[in-house]
Amino acid sequence: MCGIVGYSGKSDAVSPVLEGLSRLEYRGYDSAGISMNIDGKLCIFKKEGKLDNLKNFLKEKSELSSTIGIGHTRWATHGKVNDTNAHPHGNEDFSIVHNGIIENANVLREELKQKGYQFKSETDSETFLVKLSDEFKQSKDIEQAIIDTFKSIEGNSAFVVIAKNSHKIYSIKRSAPLVCGVNEESGDVYVSSDPYALIGFTTKIYFPGDSVLCIADHRKANNHYSFLDLNRNETKDYTIQQKQMSLNTVSKGKYEHFMLKEIFEQPELVNKLFSIYSEDITSLNEMTKSRPEMVHIIACGTALHAGLVIKDFLERKNRIRVNSDFASEFRYKEPLICKKDVGLFISQSGETADTLACQELCVAQDLKTYSIVNVEGSTLYRSCDYNLLLHAGAEIGVASTKAFTQMALVGYILSNAYLDEPKDLKSEFELLSQAITLILNREEEIKKIARDIYNYKGFIFTGRREQYPIALEGALKLKEIAYVHAEGYAAGELKHGPIALFDESMVNIAIVTKDLYEKTLSNAQEVKARKGVMVILGEGEDSELSEISDFYFGIDYLGLTDLKPLVTNVVLQLLSYHIAKFKGTDIDKPRNLAKSVTVE
Ligand code: F6R
Repeated sequence: MCGIVGYSGKSDAVSPVLEGLSRLEYRGYDSAGISMNIDGKLCIFKKEGKLDNLKNFLKEKSELSSTIGIGHTRWATHGKVNDTNAHPHGNEDFSIVHNGIIENANVLREELKQKGYQFKSETDSETFLVKLSDEFKQSKDIEQAIIDTFKSIEGNSAFVVIAKNSHKIYSIKRSAPLVCGVNEESGDVYVSSDPYALIGFTTKIYFPGDSVLCIADHRKANNHYSFLDLNRNETKDYTIQQKQMSLNTVSKGKYEHFMLKEIFEQPELVNKLFSIYSEDITSLNEMTKSRPEMVHIIACGTALHAGLVIKDFLERKNRIRVNSDFASEFRYKEPLICKKDVGLFISQSGETADTLACQELCVAQDLKTYSIVNVEGSTLYRSCDYNLLLHAGAEIGVASTKAFTQMALVGYILSNAYLDEPKDLKSEFELLSQAITLILNREEEIKKIARDIYNYKGFIFTGRREQYPIALEGALKLKEIAYVHAEGYAAGELKHGPIALFDESMVNIAIVTKDLYEKTLSNAQEVKARKGVMVILGEGEDSELSEISDFYFGIDYLGLTDLKPLVTNVVLQLLSYHIAKFKGTDIDKPRNLAKSVTVE
């Protein structure tokens, strides 16, 4: 959702702030802005549309410079997309940027209007600014004014503030992403909603807890940060991350899109994951000490699809009962939970608002909570009893690819650890890495299929049992990046309704492996008989399947069993990518989407 970057130091603020904002473009946005303190005056520049609009505007004002600045990319929630509603919001004393939703904004706005204040924008964020000014008018104390304003707002948000007579950056959050960084050599300080924006700038990153006022002061000799609780006592409610992501992560390298780069990273990541988890099994041992009555797997989107793959592992291999649900549904269901259950939360970002709310709900019911998460130090990571990291590196493409594979694999490792006698997974992981490489080497074949089918009206993806989540995930990938209608179904469900959709304009992408072969084959034949266009992903050479296919793609699973779905999924990742490319969409930043959904 909204992206935040702030800088204060000895150099010009514009360049790191704009660089940070460019890196946050992948999160989705509709306008961007920056505020700087120029010779004691807070100046704001903001533009609707792409970041380039703001960059071009600032180029014409190259004489402007400041050593302190905060920037923002907006994903509109309250108020139209225009320059006025873009952030930062400011007045003579303060400039602020905000990510999240202020739930009591209307009430606050009315109260402040009664006091004679006027509002320039339609945003909820501006109520924070006006309330802050009102508090400051009374106390003349910046820190106290921020704390009192923060206390008065409801909902999950992060705020960053700069003030007219200060070189410090103030930030505070509640259940929203926020990181504070410092470059220990130069003393320059940075804040952001995403550590990815700070790669290469900082040597140390702090992940503050909720309701901690973070004060960044580059002029202090050593400790550039103070962290205060809401009573203004020093607090240690933060974690520190010293190891940095590599600068490589920021570039697409030889690939045209981050999504493609991330798809091609998978074989290496699979091997890396195995080595990491074969060396450090501390968390796994703790997590699997006792068998839960039931595991509640809660996530959103692609992460939930990975959760369904994990559900299959836990149910079939461990005979553990599993409930899986969309986070946005689970939290409002009064779910049936008992104390011996476990909540397993899956998330790439670790900041998805609904997932976080479900984790809180489980904690409130005394459940142990575990995460499978990519971003170390994220809110989910900080909140759960135990975490299993994906070790996937930053995922920049909005459409999640490598994170899905790593999530499912971490789930496989967890399921294995629940066994009385865990298996040595080395050869399985090696085979998986090789099988994915074989798929990647056949990219041209997949591209040819994409070229022939990209103009069809709609796509139904089908699979059975362990391949069913892959049908769901394949359809999600296609709709999000190619903007075509696509649905995933359990193959046996077609004749209960969806088969009515088939004629010569509708494609069935059918996963037909040797498991449940006869049944799935007849499902495919039923579609073929209704003139559906058949793309079949089968197993190796198969004359029967080839005959009924318009396009046949035989997969070599190299003898894998449990991990087969992860191989099939890579074919569908490449297929969606190439269909989207033929359609000419913005693959890494598809319309209307945000990488990290931090509002409910
Ligand atoms: C789809 C996609 C989304 C995310 C979902 C959850 O490609 O990326 O469906 O999977 O928004 O996000 P995380 O995993 O960050 O909780």
